[in-house]
Amino acid sequence: MSTDERRQHQRRYLMCRPEHFTVSYTINPWMVPANPTDTAKAVRQWQDLYDTYLALGHEVELIDPIDGLPDMVYTANGGFVIDGVAYGAKFRFQERVPEGPAFMDWFRENGYDVREPVEVNEGEGDFLLVGDTILAGTGFRSTGDSHREVGDVFGREVVSLNLVNPTFYHLDTAIAVLDPVEGIANGGPERANIAYLPDAFDEVSRAILEERYPDAILVSSQDGAVFGLNSASDGRNVIISPRAKGFETQLRERGYNPIAVDLSELLLGGGGIKCCTLELRGATS
Ligand code: ARG
Repeated sequence: MSTDERRQHQRRYLMCRPEHFTVSYTINPWMVPANPTDTAKAVRQWQDLYDTYLALGHEVELIDPIDGLPDMVYTANGGFVIDGVAYGAKFRFQERVPEGPAFMDWFRENGYDVREPVEVNEGEGDFLLVGDTILAGTGFRSTGDSHREVGDVFGREVVSLNLVNPTFYHLDTAIAVLDPVEGIANGGPERANIAYLPDAFDEVSRAILEERYPDAILVSSQDGAVFGLNSASDGRNVIISPRAKGFETQLRERGYNPIAVDLSELLLGGGGIKCCTLELRGATS
């Protein structure tokens, strides 16, 4: 498909300005508290991403950052939202546990129907909507029981995938959803497609992905290692890391329009573009 044929879909996102960003604890292999962080730089880079979304015509809502919760900038982990229903997050590590209620308060105040989680889950970090199906990651953060819970909340098919490499501890570090949910669901011209890093999954999960997404873009280890897959697509424009050169070429070949935004400072916390972006589907406010 050519770029002219790829249709951009309007998105509504939730973001959090990294005013309190720092790396003071280690809950993933990227986080090294001894390495200095530059909060002002993190804010500047984040602002770039925010401005890019607005320039593309997307809507961005903001949640107030809370002092002492440096990882709150990674809003993808704050919940999972479809059709105005917000399934809340229940974080694996103590350091992030208070974020769960903070995000649920925001959802409530903004008119979402909040479902409180019983099971440990880290929101859209581990749940990705592809067409009508929820791809759900486990192995490091969200539990297998949360996959059942998210299926009950949304009444949709859930496909569990096992992450095996600690560098790619959330599903959104190993899979990028390229096409809009409207694709297959509304009989549109686009097939819901993904890009993924095969190395991040066990054999069983790789086989599932191969079978379900025969046209997927397979991303190289080099591009995966710079969080190339941690990107945000609107069906036409795909915001990616400037270091993911191979992925950029693959996207162009398929008619997508890659746009590079550098979040190197936020990578020190183990997060990238997608981690800083929570999709608000079926907004009610
Ligand atoms: N420091 C955060 C953590 O380890 C980074 C979260 C990245 N978020 C994501 N959606 N992958 O929890």
